[in-house]
Amino acid sequence: MSFQNRVVVVIGATGVVGSGVVRKYLDAGATVVGVSRSASKLEQLKQQMKIQASEPFLSVVGDFKDEASATEVKKAVAATLGGKAIDHVVSVQGFVAFAKAPTSTPTEELKAALDDGLFNNLLAAKAFLPDLKDREGSTFTLVSGGLAHMPPPNISLWLGTVKNAALNALTLALAAETANDKVRLNTVCMHFGVAPLGGDKNQFGMSTEGDTLRLAPAFLGIARGTQKGQLLCVNSFAEAEKLSAR
Ligand SMILES: NC(=O)c1ccc[n+]([C@@H]2O[C@H](COP(=O)([O-])OP(=O)(O)OC[C@H]3O[C@@H](n4cnc5c(N)ncnc54)[C@H](OP(=O)(O)O)[C@@H]3O)[C@@H](O)[C@H]2O)c1
Repeated sequence: MSFQNRVVVVIGATGVVGSGVVRKYLDAGATVVGVSRSASKLEQLKQQMKIQASEPFLSVVGDFKDEASATEVKKAVAATLGGKAIDHVVSVQGFVAFAKAPTSTPTEELKAALDDGLFNNLLAAKAFLPDLKDREGSTFTLVSGGLAHMPPPNISLWLGTVKNAALNALTLALAAETANDKVRLNTVCMHFGVAPLGGDKNQFGMSTEGDTLRLAPAFLGIARGTQKGQLLCVNSFAEAEKLSAR
């Protein structure tokens, strides 16, 4: 399926996962709005992903740090699109911060980890789900990670365990809320590392079998698919490729 005439918003567009999603949706003919907190990172994204001026890529600078800024981003996206409706949103904001052991970590660090990986994604859902819910064929996709399901392999990663588990739990809540709506909300919970474009290691220095462009077709597969309200645990690039094969 081509995504010609489809409008996709990628929040966290400049990140490892988001950047490949932007490129693959453009390759499939979609109009893509990339959202980032930084204009310069959006410029870097264009260079890194070889986004030509002739391609239907629009960028919006904004932050989902609180309700007011989320509303501003929503307005800016709508203005950029000039009234065109949105079909697909991918919210892939935040990564995982290192910390000391739980009882030695200042609570502010846990709050920051949730601001940067849970609350901003919830604010994105609050901003965009109301318009997607009645739109035929629309999707809203979040991204978490396999740390959610295990004791942290290294205690310094415990914030990732809590953040990802919370995002997975949020999926269940948003899935229940949208169960009778047209939008298909899902979360991809990745149990493996993904490298930036052309790389072979992720941000932790963990060796990976592939980069963002190898993962990204899975997101287009979900948009074409039938999954609804699911936590899609993906254990390998091979499994991600199965999601793409639609
Ligand atoms: N990469 C991996 O190997 C891997 C593996 C398993 C799971 N995951 C999960 O995949 C998701 C995305 O990971 P990623 O590797 O794409 O991370 P990333 O490269 O750090 O990208 C995340 C993007 O989120 C944006 N963002 C917006 N608001 C933010 C905030 N308040 N705090 C931090 N970032 C914010 C940042 O873009 P701006 O600065 O431009 O706004 C950033 O580029 C995370 O949930 C992560 O846990 C990743």
